[in-house]
Amino acid sequence: MQRPSLWGLGFHTPARCITNADFERLVDTSDEWIVTRTGIRTRYHVAPGETCSQLAVQAARNALADAGLLPQAITHVLIATFSGDYPIPSTSCLVARELGICVPAMDIAAACSGFLYALEVGRGLVALHPDAVVLVIGSEVCSSRINFNDRSTCVLFGDGAGAAILQAKPRAGAPLVHDILLHADGTAADLLTVRGGGSGCPPILGGTIGPEYFVEMNGREVFKYAVRLMTDVCQEILARNGLSVADVDLLIPHQANVRIIEAVARKLEVPEERCFVDVDRFGNTSAASVPIALADARAQGRIRPGDTVLLASFGGGFTWAAALLQF
Ligand code: ACO
Repeated sequence: MQRPSLWGLGFHTPARCITNADFERLVDTSDEWIVTRTGIRTRYHVAPGETCSQLAVQAARNALADAGLLPQAITHVLIATFSGDYPIPSTSCLVARELGICVPAMDIAAACSGFLYALEVGRGLVALHPDAVVLVIGSEVCSSRINFNDRSTCVLFGDGAGAAILQAKPRAGAPLVHDILLHADGTAADLLTVRGGGSGCPPILGGTIGPEYFVEMNGREVFKYAVRLMTDVCQEILARNGLSVADVDLLIPHQANVRIIEAVARKLEVPEERCFVDVDRFGNTSAASVPIALADARAQGRIRPGDTVLLASFGGGFTWAAALLQF
């Protein structure tokens, strides 16, 4: 099978920077606690009225510029998100409208692993339709689903979007998507949820909005699963491609918490300088975290031609995944 390429990468975050000091004024917390437990120093939140689709469009335009393509080249739009503009219409339809294109568009729900899930769906589309040009986006307004009274979750999340353009045709400088590996297991689904508004927890006209409408998480348990499953999936994808950790030039894990990232790197025996971290600036942007980190790592010059890059993610569901890119 011919391996598709990522022709363009781009990301976008809202302008409003939220510092740990801002949270000190909101809940009983401290910069010292947040930095020690999570590594997060800042994150970006949307302004009132700013939406998931708007962030996605900006990231898409940046990826298109990077690819040297116009929106009219796109044949499919895939958006991974848990915080889309509305249940109907899908955020991907709104993004396509804003880009001025009428093409198949759909949203994908796999929490923080959503981007790698969407990339795998994109690989399927490209395999079926060799001329397809698939816009794959992870976009989140996590701040719309944060309980700002819950100090154990509200400090963790940021808003943003990352995008990539997937095509069958190779191009100089465009990384090959060498392999993707997806997993899910619903048996621990209750450890990380946003339940309110779904048919399992429907909104009641005139009713109150309770904490079930926001991220609820057993942080300690999620932490343990995240470390174990991201480590496992990295080892599994390397093994099935006949590679070892020594072949990986850069590990880009889901940016949830610097302690999770460090624990995964330690277990895999990846040295610090070969593990990318930007959670300190952006917080956990859920499905946007991996594509933001990928575009950010390349923009920072952390990826060179010929590099093998290993992406890993973990999220509610649970879902977890890995991808191997060849630059
Ligand atoms: N400021 C000050 N104190 C706090 C805060 C805060 N922001 N949050 C919690 N605490 C307190 C708790 O109330 C608790 O106090 P107590 O001992 O008096 O009860 C104490 O700190 C310790 O709480 P723990 O929850 O045990 O703290 P822990 O070291 O586990 O850190 C954290 C909490 C940061 C949430 C950690 O568990 C974690 O990172 N878990 C993974 C969460 C995550 O990243 N999830 C996302 C991954 S999947 C996805 O991206 C959707």
